[in-house]
Amino acid sequence: MNISLIGVPMNYGCDREGAQYGPEKLREKKIVDVIKKYNHSIYDFGNLYVPKVCDTEKYAFHNRMKYLKPIVEVNTNLAHQVYSALAAGNFPFVIGGDHSLGLGSIAGASKYYENLAVVWIDAHGDINTDETSPSGNVHGMPLAAAMGVGCTSLTDVYYKGVKVRPENVFIIGARDLDEGEVQLAKDKKLNLYTMDKVKYMGVDGILKDIVEKLKANNVEAVHLSFDMDALDSDLVPGTGTPVTDGMTIDEVKYVFKHLMDTKLVKSMDLVELNTHLDKNDVTAEVAIDLVDWTFKLIA
Ligand code: ARG
Ligand code: MN
Ligand code: MN
Ligand code: MN
Repeated sequence: MNISLIGVPMNYGCDREGAQYGPEKLREKKIVDVIKKYNHSIYDFGNLYVPKVCDTEKYAFHNRMKYLKPIVEVNTNLAHQVYSALAAGNFPFVIGGDHSLGLGSIAGASKYYENLAVVWIDAHGDINTDETSPSGNVHGMPLAAAMGVGCTSLTDVYYKGVKVRPENVFIIGARDLDEGEVQLAKDKKLNLYTMDKVKYMGVDGILKDIVEKLKANNVEAVHLSFDMDALDSDLVPGTGTPVTDGMTIDEVKYVFKHLMDTKLVKSMDLVELNTHLDKNDVTAEVAIDLVDWTFKLIA
């Protein structure tokens, strides 16, 4: 497989120091060599340019969304990078950076694929809008925007219109949802596999369900978006919004394995590694272990 590695050194979406150094840390941990081990050709496109904005200006572009303008600019460029990689027959692997980059990666993938599904593995739903968000942090909004919900400045990134249909959205591992998110998940009938549901059905059970639905919906491609905080907070100190009672590493690997087996996964994000909060690089090492696992699975 030809892999396009795209770094997004951005923390505007989480408004927290440390998330912007994820790409640098993963390269220091030899992410390129790890992927190469499995005979992939990897093209490291380096990091996207992230414009400098002072924190005194965080609300200069919108009264409820922090750092809106640079976030939209970076994501527009990211979308085109992802689209171009797919058009060239490559697998775009986007490393963050905070989860607001989901805006760009989904926009790019959905421009290329007619009937895209998104599998979002996360302690959070990231389906807030500027009106429901308790924080104003855009990393809590990308998946709503991708479904066409929320402010047009976010829903219209890269191109106008809905990027993914709600029945093609799968959220796994959620256990910290805001009121508005719970409501939206109900209204849109999202495929929401909360941590409770994962425990109840088992990873095996939810995977069967997901694979069945991907088939029934005639999905052409899956964009896999992995937030490090899906994992239990005890395992990942180096993430900005850790939540207890999360997934184990083996559970995540199991999910990855069965998703890769469908051969539908065509692009992926790995986000929310925070190097300032990390302890002795344990979170970075977990990320690298998951990257190793992932690219061993991809033929
Ligand atoms: N729901 C909270 C918010 O909207 C937290 C979102 C955390 N998102 C993330 N990608 N880590 O602010
Ligand atoms: Mn997230
Ligand atoms: Mn999260
Ligand atoms: Mn625990």
